[in-house]
Amino acid sequence: MIDPFGRAVSYLRVSVTDRCDFRCVYCMAEDMTFLPKREVLSLEELDRLCSAFIDKGVRRLRLTGGEPLVRKNIMSLIRGLSRHIDSGALEELTITTNGSQLSKLATELYDCGVRRINVSVDTLDAERFKAITRWGDLDKVLHGIQTAKAAGLQIKINMVALKGVNEHEIIPMMEWCHANGHDLTLIETMPLGEIDGDRTDQYLPLSLVRSRLGERFTLEDIPYKTGGPARYVEVKETGGRMGFITPMTHNFCESCNRVRATCTGQLYMCLGQDDMADLRAPLRASEGNELLSAAIDEAIGRKPKGHDFIIDRRTKQPAVTRHMSVTGG
Ligand code: GTP
Ligand code: 5AD
Ligand code: SF4
Repeated sequence: MIDPFGRAVSYLRVSVTDRCDFRCVYCMAEDMTFLPKREVLSLEELDRLCSAFIDKGVRRLRLTGGEPLVRKNIMSLIRGLSRHIDSGALEELTITTNGSQLSKLATELYDCGVRRINVSVDTLDAERFKAITRWGDLDKVLHGIQTAKAAGLQIKINMVALKGVNEHEIIPMMEWCHANGHDLTLIETMPLGEIDGDRTDQYLPLSLVRSRLGERFTLEDIPYKTGGPARYVEVKETGGRMGFITPMTHNFCESCNRVRATCTGQLYMCLGQDDMADLRAPLRASEGNELLSAAIDEAIGRKPKGHDFIIDRRTKQPAVTRHMSVTGG
C-alpha cells in the first residue's frame, strides 16, 4: 500500500475498545460517554479487518485502546492474530497498554508471539499517578511490568512530559527504566479532544528537555528504529535507550508508515486529522473481502501529508475534536 506521497503503509494500529479503566487527564475527560456495544466491531470482525490489512502488506500490528486488555476476551483475538506471526506474514504483533492487566495476562501475551510491549507510566509517585490517571493504582501497574519482564517481554515505558506535573521526574524515570532494562520514550502532549484541564499550561517541548538532559548526561543519537516515530539516543551514563516523540517540535510525518483503525471500524489516515474512511460498512456488507479491500485502497489514496497540530494559546481549542482514546495514539 503506497500513499499519494510515496510512503509505504506497513503499520496498522487498532483501537480495540474506547473504554479504559483509567482516565488520564491528557487523554479523556473525567466524564466520558462510551460507545454502545452494537457500534463496536466484534472480535471476529476485528480479526477480519486486521487480516485484510496484513494481506495488503501490513507487517506490524499494534493493538491499542482505550485500554486494549480490558476488552472482554481480548486474548482470543490476540491468539487468533498470532497465526500471522507463525506464518511469517507479520513481523510484530504488539500492544500499548496502561499495564493494569499485565499481572494477569503477560505470560499469555508472550505465548501468543508478543515480544515487546509499550506501557504508559507518567510518574513513579503513587499520589501523582492517581492524580494523572484519576484512579490508577501504580503498584498494580509496576507489578504488571515486573511480571511482563519475567515473562520475557521487552518493555518500553511511555511518559507524556507534562510541564509542572512530571517534568522533574524525567531523570528519576530514566534511571529507573534503565536500571530495570526498559527503554523510555518521552512524548509531547498532543491536542486531541476537549479535556478538563488546559493543555497550553502543560505543554512541554521536548527540544528543551533534551537540551537540559544533555547538560547532565551524554546523549548519543543512535539509529535504533522500532517502526514508530521516536528518535532514540543512548544515554552513555546508564547504557539505556531513550526515545523522543516530538510531533510538535520536530514533525516526523514525512516518514509516516501507519494508519489507525477505531473499534468501530473507522480508518484514520492521520492521527492529527479528522478525515477518515468507514470500513465497517464494507466489512459487514459481505463475507468476502473485495469491498473491504477496495475501501482500504481508496482510504490510503487520500492519506494526508501530515498533521495540523498546534497548541494555540489564544483559542485553547484542540486541533482535533476526538479524544486520543478513540484512535489510541
Ligand atoms: P513503537 O515505536 O513501535 O514502540 O510504538 P509507538 O511509540 O509508535 O507507539 P505507542 O503506542 O507507544 O505510542 C507512543 C506515542 O506515539 C503516543 O503518544 C502516540 O500517540 C504517538 N504516535 C504514534 N504514532 C504516531 C503518529 O503517527 N503521529 C503522531 N503524531 N503520534 C504518533
Ligand atoms: N498526547 C500525547 N500522548 C498521549 N497519550 C494519550 N493521550 C495523549 C496526548 N494527548 C499517550 C498515552 C499512551 C500512548 C498510546 O499515547 O500515554 O502511552
Ligand atoms: Fe486510558 Fe491510556 Fe487514555 Fe490513560 S492514556 S486514559 S491509560 S487510554
